[in-house]
Amino acid sequence: MNFQDRRLILVSNAEPYIHKWEGDEIVSEKLAGGLTTALDPLIKKIGGTWIAWGRGDADFEVLDSEGKVEIVEDGTSYELKRIRLSEEEVDGFYLDFSNELLWPIFHSFPEKSTLEDYRSSEEKWKIYRDVNRKYADAVTEEFEEGDLVWIHDYHLTLVPKMIREEYPTANIAFFWHIPWPSWEIFGNLPWREEIVGGLLNSDFLGFHTSPLKDNFLSCIEKTSKKVNYEDSTVKTNRGATKVSAIPLGVDYDRFSSFSAEESLQEEAKKIKRSIPADKIILGVDRLDYTKGIPQRLRAFELFLEEYPEFQGEITLVQRIPPSRISAEEYKSILKKINRIIGEINGRFEKTEWTPIKSFHRFLPEQKQLIPYYLASDIALVTPLIDGMNLISKEWIASSDDGVLILSEFTGAAEDLKEAIQVNPYNTREMAEGIEKALRMDETERRNRLEKLKRRVRENDLKWWREEFMNSWLGEDW
Ligand code: G6P
Repeated sequence: MNFQDRRLILVSNAEPYIHKWEGDEIVSEKLAGGLTTALDPLIKKIGGTWIAWGRGDADFEVLDSEGKVEIVEDGTSYELKRIRLSEEEVDGFYLDFSNELLWPIFHSFPEKSTLEDYRSSEEKWKIYRDVNRKYADAVTEEFEEGDLVWIHDYHLTLVPKMIREEYPTANIAFFWHIPWPSWEIFGNLPWREEIVGGLLNSDFLGFHTSPLKDNFLSCIEKTSKKVNYEDSTVKTNRGATKVSAIPLGVDYDRFSSFSAEESLQEEAKKIKRSIPADKIILGVDRLDYTKGIPQRLRAFELFLEEYPEFQGEITLVQRIPPSRISAEEYKSILKKINRIIGEINGRFEKTEWTPIKSFHRFLPEQKQLIPYYLASDIALVTPLIDGMNLISKEWIASSDDGVLILSEFTGAAEDLKEAIQVNPYNTREMAEGIEKALRMDETERRNRLEKLKRRVRENDLKWWREEFMNSWLGEDW
């Protein structure tokens, strides 16, 4: 059977569209997350069903009797099937277990994980398992022989096995969007066998980079499974699970066409006019302690201290869209960021110049960031750890000139060698990186950006989707 005859069932925590009330009308809004933006075109091409948790305030008003709504756009259509979660499930599954317990473990911050509180983590695990069951049931209700099932991310590790129990020959793939740590950290999880056992019921399992894939395989070996490193497979009862590294990309053509849009250029000029400094450094990060925002602010402070000639000449614009704000760690990182910004601005501010401008608003549309990309001279992308980091790639694709400073602990750094790569824990190195970027001559700047653009163009989003499907199904997509 070739792909034209197959339906795709996509399964993710995040949904691609929400429905919400605007006055007494219900409107649909496309969400700008990396995962949903990456997969929406694929399901539009093949057709099928996307299963996700409904979180819009009118999400359940528009569903048919099977819990679905048809998404019609660009002359194509697919079904979105929404899972309804109770408040208790949202807390236990999404906030507590996925984001307060698993997220820090997979990002190698075990001390931030709530794992230690054993009784309450057992409770949360139960809710996580039950919600995974809800997702799996939603898949099996839909599933027909020949369908392809593609599941995403750490919220849904148990779903492959739950589907497999009902449909032993189902064709299942999984993509892991975040880092995978070493055994010393992953092995802490009391449910490590269940998590690995869930994932290995996929036929094909993708990571962003080879180091992450290797971490996964070495954890698998520790759970006494047989790994064949030559062809990157893990032996299972059913046969084998193939594991690959396929770095997620961005829609290069779309981002590069933005710089020709007059309205966006106008917006970019407005931003420049509103900031009385020669140069703009840009940081854009979802609010998260993994993004290294306090460390970056301290590096900027050291830069202003060590190179006073740049005081008054350069402003750091930091955009921090809110995220998971009801979780304690996220509340406390926000407080910390605001305190540091206050300190630095208080210390260096002049009548006409503010060193750091930060914005905390949610930007519903990806496009709203473009004027900031266009207005900036330097992108400062320095997470302490990140599975990939698409902001760096979006910035490269949109920019005509400028320098990227990139943390060596992002998946993107594997490819983006012409960026100034820094250790985000090394404040001095980051401060020197900023100085180097500012003093870089035009020829070198353009050369580096040209090479970076080539890489981002070659391994773009379409390439990622095709590479994933080809490696999974062994067909030419
Ligand atoms: C990461 C994860 C995604 C998640 C996103 C936003 O990129 O890999 O699965 O959707 O963060 O997190 P949120 O909790 O706001 O959905």
